[in-house]
Amino acid sequence: MVTNEKMNELAEEAKKAANNAYAPYSHFRVGAAILCKDGSIVTGVNVENRSYGLTICAERNAITTAVTQGQYSFLALALSTPDSDSPVGPCGACRQVLSEFMAPDCPVRFGSNSTAIIDTTIGELLPFDSLHDLKK
Ligand code: THU
Repeated sequence: MVTNEKMNELAEEAKKAANNAYAPYSHFRVGAAILCKDGSIVTGVNVENRSYGLTICAERNAITTAVTQGQYSFLALALSTPDSDSPVGPCGACRQVLSEFMAPDCPVRFGSNSTAIIDTTIGELLPFDSLHDLKK
């Protein structure tokens, strides 16, 4: 069970990380923070490219960084999008990648530059995920 206090901490880490985003084309910074099963927090940011399609989202950067560190199971995700006035959730591709490593009941929080916060779950973001158990 991930406490609200932990989600606040995660959101704070995502917000800090967003400052390091490389987004000279969209000017839309994204920070992601994931809580690993061992309690550690790993962050990621969006990294854009002049060949626009090569852009990597913050969520997938956080996941690949964590996997590189030997983490394969995650309990929660927070996203920060300081350049938007309303909360922005993960894109479709990121939802699929997140669901590879996170159970449907894992909490997800996303906010913006305002106080508006959305609390949801991986399962709500990617419903009818029929292939979820395929790897087992
Ligand atoms: N972006 C993310 O980092 N995560 C998402 O889930 C949505 C989109 C980035 C990609 C691009 O650098 C910028 O936000 C605008 O789409």
